[in-house]
Amino acid sequence: MDQKHSEYKLPDRKQALKRTRDAVESSYDLFEVSSGAAGLGRGKTYYLRTYGCQANVRDGETMAGMLEMMGFSSCENEEEADLLLFNTCAVRKAAEDRVLGEIGSLKTLKKRHPEKKIALCGCMAQEENIVDLLIQKYPQVDLVFGTHNIYRLPELLRRCMQDNERVIEVFSEEGRVVENMPVRRSHPAKGFVNIMYGCNKFCTYCIVPYTRGKERSRRQEDILKEIISLKEEGRKEAVLLGQNVNAYGKDLGMQDGFTDLLCACAETGIERIRFYTSHPRDYSISTIEAMRRYPNIMKSLHLPVQSGSDEILRRMARGYTAGSYMELYDAMKERIPEITFTTDLIVGFPGETDEQFQKTLDLVEHCRFDLAYTFIYSPRSGTPAASMPDDIPFEVKKQRLQILNDKIADSALANNREYLGRTVKVLCEGSSRKKADVYSGYSEENKLVNFTGPEGLENRIVDVKVTGVHSFSLDGEAL
Ligand code: SAH
Ligand code: SF4
Ligand code: F3S
Repeated sequence: MDQKHSEYKLPDRKQALKRTRDAVESSYDLFEVSSGAAGLGRGKTYYLRTYGCQANVRDGETMAGMLEMMGFSSCENEEEADLLLFNTCAVRKAAEDRVLGEIGSLKTLKKRHPEKKIALCGCMAQEENIVDLLIQKYPQVDLVFGTHNIYRLPELLRRCMQDNERVIEVFSEEGRVVENMPVRRSHPAKGFVNIMYGCNKFCTYCIVPYTRGKERSRRQEDILKEIISLKEEGRKEAVLLGQNVNAYGKDLGMQDGFTDLLCACAETGIERIRFYTSHPRDYSISTIEAMRRYPNIMKSLHLPVQSGSDEILRRMARGYTAGSYMELYDAMKERIPEITFTTDLIVGFPGETDEQFQKTLDLVEHCRFDLAYTFIYSPRSGTPAASMPDDIPFEVKKQRLQILNDKIADSALANNREYLGRTVKVLCEGSSRKKADVYSGYSEENKLVNFTGPEGLENRIVDVKVTGVHSFSLDGEAL
């Protein structure tokens, strides 16, 4: 195959850090497809696999929208697809290894069908070592693009498919917010809405600020337009997304931008609003008041704490203490007694002692989370924590994870027992493949509910009587 490498520039981490800390005005652009790329996918199929967080899911929806605008249709099978896209996550090594394994196994498929195109995008594509590895060891990958140039997908595909180029285009420059991009939403009942991109927090373990760049907020009017269109399409829930939603609007010079935005979103009248992810350091009392005031802002909060040890939190650069986290938790419970909490926790941060781990267990005892995403610390090259000394054996870290998971499962079950016999309002997301009358969805409190009921409940808010409880789900019957 006659292929030439296009020039690429990778992010310089120090520069990226500096740029991120400089407040730079974001620019806003409108999405366009060039005439050369418009009909490129006619009669062709694409297979898109997305890993990672909801930011990636939302990006995947944008890519699917663009591909369908270009004439591609989606397919569920790698073997059949003309174009395969891997929308990747870099947050832990295990996530990366899974993708590399998957792509590695496509070598034979590509040999048999050299006309198929394989693309890798998402957060792994923003990592210098990964792009080098792909260039050298994964010749089956035809296209690599990063998180800042998704809007260029049609043009990159044109070069890849028409000019038969191997295209590697990863922007180190962020800063552009592109509006009007097409979207193919993955849920009929709800819609993800980016309110901002990037993260300025630089927690010492985390790669996201390097893969997603500095914080850039979308304009409030663009966000509201998207929520109104969700409502007009009959969707019941808008899920606002940002790595640290409480920082919304800071780059636009707003004081309490997130609370203002939340109130404006509630005023659109959409039935449900949720938001991910909140940061304990920036959470403001005014946001609690907004949650209290508007019944359509769901009373559940995902508030990652990461650790219960002040020393570990300091070394993570989280900017709060276990005590201040618990104060915030108590203040919210006092103002909104029905509120439910979920969190993220890391065990085995470099040098974490048994006593420090115990502090995490103590915090979990106090906060009684309904669910926690728990992780063993994974060193990410280029982040400050990756060079911190760590003498804790992996076996110990695994044991800690197990102890923590058991404790969370216990408190979640105890919380759920209080729901037995109660009626909860569930947004029905669909029925089980095996049994058409077994539905699932999420209650206002963000509990997963599996329930039985008559036909046709999809995409409706249903009153469900709770008849059984588990640690992380409820069983019930539609009333
Ligand atoms: N912006 C969000 C979450 C981003 S990543 C926040 O600040 O809460 C999602 C979760 O992955 C984090 O909350 C953290 O618990 C986990 N995580 C991030 N980097 C990690 C690493 N290097 N090792 C293990 N877990 C990590
Ligand atoms: Fe990562 Fe911290 Fe930013 Fe969350 S707030 S994305 S954990 S750097
Ligand atoms: Fe993963 Fe990127 Fe999200 S690293 S967690 S997909 S922002």
